[in-house]
Amino acid sequence: MHMHFFEGVFAHLPTIETDRLVLRPLRMRDADDLYAYARDPEVSRHVLWDTHKSPADSRQFLRAAIRQYRRGLPGSFAITLRDSGRMIGTIGFMWVNLDHKSAEVGYSLSRDYWNRGIMTEALRAVIAFGFDTLHLNRIEAQHEIDNPASGRVMAHAGMRYEGVMRQRLMNKGRYVDVAQYAILRSDPRT
Ligand SMILES: CC(C)(COP(=O)(O)OP(=O)(O)OC[C@H]1O[C@@H](n2cnc3c(N)ncnc32)[C@H](O)[C@@H]1OP(=O)(O)O)[C@@H](O)C(=O)NCCC(=O)NCCS
Repeated sequence: MHMHFFEGVFAHLPTIETDRLVLRPLRMRDADDLYAYARDPEVSRHVLWDTHKSPADSRQFLRAAIRQYRRGLPGSFAITLRDSGRMIGTIGFMWVNLDHKSAEVGYSLSRDYWNRGIMTEALRAVIAFGFDTLHLNRIEAQHEIDNPASGRVMAHAGMRYEGVMRQRLMNKGRYVDVAQYAILRSDPRT
């Protein structure tokens, strides 16, 4: 059966190296590293997945991610440290729109590694992948307005603030206002 170009890319995500990081496909062996941070309610507060309550939740998360790869659907990279190989977060595509050549990225990182520029470094690499490998024209990202650190990451990676979508999402029982950012292929990259 004919596979669309995007499906082929998502079925075989490449490994991307940056100064401090290696982005690569998730695998079941990441379960312990994932559970170590996904059990932290501060990490899951502003994302749409629930705090992992047991290692089984982390294995379930990884099984779902691997199933997405197999189907050639948009998915996430593991963020790993170049030095130790430790898996400390995820970053990837929530959806891709073929007609409009647009996509949305999302990410999360272990609290042990916050405020060292790691997600900015990862997001720059994924934006480059989106434009250069997926040939996208527009890459969006959203954050809850009470999660300003994520907006700083988007701005540092060259995304531009486009406004607030009021009560766009229901997260963990409450409606949340969401800030929208995007970068276009024609925008300067940072
Ligand atoms: C949001 C998150 C991805 C940031 O990752 P990170 O690697 O710490 O980000 P960076 O170090 O590249 O940049 C963080 C920026 O936010 C700023 N920041 C941190 N805490 C902040 C706060 N409470 N208010 C405002 N800015 C804050 C930092 O100062 C830095 O900006 P600066 O360089 O302009 O000073 C990370 O905290 C995380 O994974 N949080 C949990 C999951 C999540 O919220 N994901 C995003 C969902 S949209």
